[in-house]
Amino acid sequence: MKFEVKSLSFDKWETDLLVILLEKDLQLPLFENGELQSFVNALTRDFEEKKIKREFFTRWDGKAIKHIVVFHSSLEPSYNSWERTKIFASRALGYGKDYSLKNISFLMNGGDASPYIGKVVEGAVLGSYGFDKYKMEKNEYPAEVRITLIANETTLKADKERCKHYSQVMGVLNECRDLVNEPGSVVYPEVLANLARDLGKTHSMKVTVLDEKSLEKAGYKGLISVGKGSIHPPRLITLEYKPQKKSSIRLALVGKGITFDTGGISLKPSEKMLEMKGDMAGAAAVLYTMKAIAYLKPDVGVIGIIPTAENFPDARAQRPGDIFVAKNGKSVQVDNTDAEGRLVLIDAFARAGELKSTHIVDVATLTGSVVRALGQGVAGIMGNSQVLIDAVIKSGANHGENFWPLPLPEEYKEMLKTPYADINNIGGPNAGAITAGLFLQEFLPENTAWVHLDIAGPFMFDKPWKYYKEGATGFGMKTLVDLCWRFKEYFSN
Ligand code: BES
Ligand code: ZN
Ligand code: ZN
Repeated sequence: MKFEVKSLSFDKWETDLLVILLEKDLQLPLFENGELQSFVNALTRDFEEKKIKREFFTRWDGKAIKHIVVFHSSLEPSYNSWERTKIFASRALGYGKDYSLKNISFLMNGGDASPYIGKVVEGAVLGSYGFDKYKMEKNEYPAEVRITLIANETTLKADKERCKHYSQVMGVLNECRDLVNEPGSVVYPEVLANLARDLGKTHSMKVTVLDEKSLEKAGYKGLISVGKGSIHPPRLITLEYKPQKKSSIRLALVGKGITFDTGGISLKPSEKMLEMKGDMAGAAAVLYTMKAIAYLKPDVGVIGIIPTAENFPDARAQRPGDIFVAKNGKSVQVDNTDAEGRLVLIDAFARAGELKSTHIVDVATLTGSVVRALGQGVAGIMGNSQVLIDAVIKSGANHGENFWPLPLPEEYKEMLKTPYADINNIGGPNAGAITAGLFLQEFLPENTAWVHLDIAGPFMFDKPWKYYKEGATGFGMKTLVDLCWRFKEYFSN
């Protein structure tokens, strides 16, 4: 798919499909063509009177324009105008595919349309994604499709920049989705390590990978304990992005990288267990955020940290009741081997501390409990720094990734007590997302602002959602990229 941003007068709108989005902010200009103008006016009235309940697609017998599809905000009232634009862009591309239309133009030359150009690109790139490499019958989006964004002459330069930025980031996001969609037999810890090494080489980022021997020696017992039952040994991966100008900020992005979570000896039920190939969605979000920022070059130091292991039952696997001593000296009882994410995350926190991180944001498919509380459309957010929480929520909202705060009440720490060790790895039947957050908090390096994102809800869908097909969404990556991009702005005072 190719994008072009152009300022074109009406008589030059040569296209197989003209996409018109009737959205207040987009303020469509007059069409310089009576017929088209009255067509749009009549449709607008019908939409407003709720006479039309889906987009209007029609053949058009103009010289230059062959088909038109018109969307109106009333069709998707549950979403804000940015999310709607992406949904409509992806649906418009669907028409392109179904009717073999290779040249698609979006009319983006209204008064305030400029910021929407990125959203159209995003909807197009994410909406045309498919994962059918294992299928005989491919259903790929035709590569030769050309998308023209008809923009305003006055904002053309900025619009082109925006188009490039969004198509780059969203292309990377689709790679992230690929990795999460891959089966667990294909993606195991060493595979993630190799991806990181390659990334480091291409973008001159420093990458370090600790293997099972170095992990054992250095006392990263969380990873060792979780990985014991697998034939694929654990890894602790670090990627370091250094900005051109020196920065006092070192933001650590930590992603849970359980490449398959069977639950271990506390085995999960088989129903839907296959989703647990995506228990490395946090790791994928972090890995590809590092790739995106290697292109974008924000002016903060960013360290991607990926603790990765496979959680399997085996004669060598850890047992319920086993106890290990974490890097910070606290002993942990593994009451339930299925609560493994937190055990590997705390090793990553220790690593973030060694690398003198000032801020930590962790992303993890951590608890079923957060899905019961918030459903699939919203992720949970917890942390010890309100400013950082607010910054992440804002970055997420910019991109339609919603986070809702959960508290970390001191008194709930009671639930993590055990007679046998300093802390238990589960906290009982209630408030599971919160007790997971409280557990993590006990292992933070000193004086570090921290935010924890529990993305167990939106990381994967078994039916389409917004502009995403069923499967992995890459949830969290857009938020992290935006956070890095705006970090200086958020924390400049
Ligand atoms: N990876 C799962 C959490 C999960 C569940 C992610 C569903 C995505 C969808 C995690 O390791 C887990 O198994 N958590 C347990 C914790 C429990 C044993 C305290 C859970 O939430 O059930
Ligand atoms: Zn688990
Ligand atoms: Zn897990």
